[in-house]
Amino acid sequence: MPSVGLGTYKARGAKLTAAVQYALAAGTRLIDTATGYRNEEDVARAMAESGSIAREEVFITSKIGPREMGADQAASALSSSLARLKTDFLDCIIMPMVNQIEVHPLYQQRPLREYCKANNIQVVAYASLGCGELLSNETVLGIAQSLGKTAAQVLLRWGLQSGCCVIPKSVHRERIQGATWQALSEWQLSPSQMKALNAMEAGQKFCWDPSTVL
Ligand SMILES: NC(=O)c1ccc[n+]([C@@H]2O[C@H](COP(=O)([O-])OP(=O)(O)OC[C@H]3O[C@@H](n4cnc5c(N)ncnc54)[C@H](OP(=O)(O)O)[C@@H]3O)[C@@H](O)[C@H]2O)c1
Repeated sequence: MPSVGLGTYKARGAKLTAAVQYALAAGTRLIDTATGYRNEEDVARAMAESGSIAREEVFITSKIGPREMGADQAASALSSSLARLKTDFLDCIIMPMVNQIEVHPLYQQRPLREYCKANNIQVVAYASLGCGELLSNETVLGIAQSLGKTAAQVLLRWGLQSGCCVIPKSVHRERIQGATWQALSEWQLSPSQMKALNAMEAGQKFCWDPSTVL
């Protein structure tokens, strides 16, 4: 699967359709959606309007809600998701071989990531930017300034160098263009910069707690 994708949580309608088109035009080929985001139709519209990009070229991830688990309910939820996305296949429904979890310097999930690595499960990091909150962090900004990069790029590069795929969400063209594989792959954080970011671990989550959802 691609290492860098577009997150879509909380984005809908024309704004999201435009964001998906910016991402596709910038070369991004992974779109992360979910039934619960209520934006699968918008992703489908963007794909249809992108014209020359074939469905097979884009890696689409969706998710079935925790209340739709179990063979019958999951099968029916999946076929509804496919209908909304106007496709006859998904590249990933979140389940083993891929584990999508919250990962950023304040919440690194090292034991879980080590377990995934040992068991050949690819970690996809969400909330890489701390849902936007980490973009004003002094350590992150200092490293960004020294490299001539944005705070978002430093956080995404930290995710990639930590072995994760990243799926930052934005509806802004210039932010999406700054968060493509191309924009993130031609430079790296030094060992001392990685060490400074690793030292930020604080057990601080920004998203929901999957262990208490039901
Ligand atoms: N499996 C799960 O349970 C789960 C949970 C949460 C999220 N996810 C997935 O992971 C994706 C990413 O996580 P997330 O959306 O929670 O948080 P995130 O990607 O860490 O942060 C998104 C926020 O950062 C802002 N932003 C993005 N790029 C920026 C930049 N260069 N400069 C300044 N602000 C910037 C965005 O605003 P703008 O849009 O205005 O740019 C948005 O408010 C989600 O969209 C979703 O697809 C999955």
